[in-house]
Amino acid sequence: MSDYNLGLDYAKQQDQLDDLKHYRSQFHIPKDNKGNEWLYFTGNSLGLQPKSTKDYINQELEDWANLGVEGHFEAKNPWMPYHEYLTNSMAKIVGAKPIEVVVMNTLTTNLHLLMVSFYQPTKTKYKIVIESDAFPSDRYAVQTQLEFHGFDANEGLIEWKPRKDEELLNIEDLENILEEQGDEIALLLIGGVNYYTGQYLNLKKIAELGHAKNCKVGIDLAHGAGNIKPELHDSGVDFAAWCTYKYLNSGPGSLAGLFVHEKHAYNKELKRFAGWWSHNKRFNMRQPLDVIPGAEGWQLSNPPILSMAAIKASLDMFNEVGMDALRKKSIKLTGYFEFLINELNNHKIKIITPSNPDERGCQLSIQVKNADKNLHQKLTDTHIITDWREPDVIRCAPTPLYNSFEDVYRMVEKLKEILSPS
Ligand SMILES: Cc1ncc(COP(=O)(O)O)c(C=O)c1O
Repeated sequence: MSDYNLGLDYAKQQDQLDDLKHYRSQFHIPKDNKGNEWLYFTGNSLGLQPKSTKDYINQELEDWANLGVEGHFEAKNPWMPYHEYLTNSMAKIVGAKPIEVVVMNTLTTNLHLLMVSFYQPTKTKYKIVIESDAFPSDRYAVQTQLEFHGFDANEGLIEWKPRKDEELLNIEDLENILEEQGDEIALLLIGGVNYYTGQYLNLKKIAELGHAKNCKVGIDLAHGAGNIKPELHDSGVDFAAWCTYKYLNSGPGSLAGLFVHEKHAYNKELKRFAGWWSHNKRFNMRQPLDVIPGAEGWQLSNPPILSMAAIKASLDMFNEVGMDALRKKSIKLTGYFEFLINELNNHKIKIITPSNPDERGCQLSIQVKNADKNLHQKLTDTHIITDWREPDVIRCAPTPLYNSFEDVYRMVEKLKEILSPS
């Protein structure tokens, strides 16, 4: 028996019951030229803009205009420690301690900086495991790390693949890879929530398996931050990085998060690339490097305040809502989406995302028969915004902060209309 019902009335009733319903009006929802709101399902790619973002950025523009360089100490939110204003909220979102988290750079840059520290290959233990369908940037990052250290990128890369005719990864297969080749593996770099299938992997288990073979374990959390509750500290993974422009609604190309587990916080032996922002006493210019303990010690440069202001606008909202409430709504909303799609019972589409809510976030990946891209195009033509990922998937993410049950209902009604033979 499903917990859900069909019909628009049911969707509207669920929206009425939703404790988070008032957050939708705090976002700019794009509209068509008749003033109708788009149905926006791509928070997994670029989150919508909170209405408060402009004020947060304007504050910094004004302080810059009025104070110039003095803004570093005299701005309403002094710029010198600005990155620290983001730390507590970000730590809560990913389930970390404040010393484990910092916002800096962009995701792929952070992955490289983290690999400088945590990918320390030897002649015999140098291989890196990634998912066979890892996001291309991660693949390129590990390939070039292998080459940088003088290894053959093809030979040094091990792919954790789904089994034949399956879409999802099976943890037993990672176990087997480690059993057979663990002595040669230096690092696992895994997408915590896979960008293509939406599969949320068991981070704790991955960390245990990797550590049992003396490998370092890193997580790309691009599709996890602000979506699932990854509990990074408890998972025991060594490091993680994520962008903030997806579920964290901080604007195109905005800065990224970085996590380094507390167990490495005071290890001064770890190799790293440093800059003046890694240093404990920043304006003491003539001192030797004294690295700040914890994640902050991986920073290089003074951060872009305008971008951080946009992140602060978003994180203040996340802090108010809390991940527990968000996740609770998310599970219900995505479950409803899945229910409606399954009710269509149409052989042209198939959800490949796990049906177990513990193994997914809000995204559902809909595989389209014969890779018929038209379906995605027709949705886009009616301002239902999803994304197409090659070879054959439409990704749709009802995000709990601004998507409603009615959005989901209307989306699936349109899907039904497009799929039905004319
Ligand atoms: C899983 C994943 N990893 C890495 C990236 C690359 O992020 P960036 O361009 O911010 O480095 C993305 C971007 O969408 C992504 O989805």
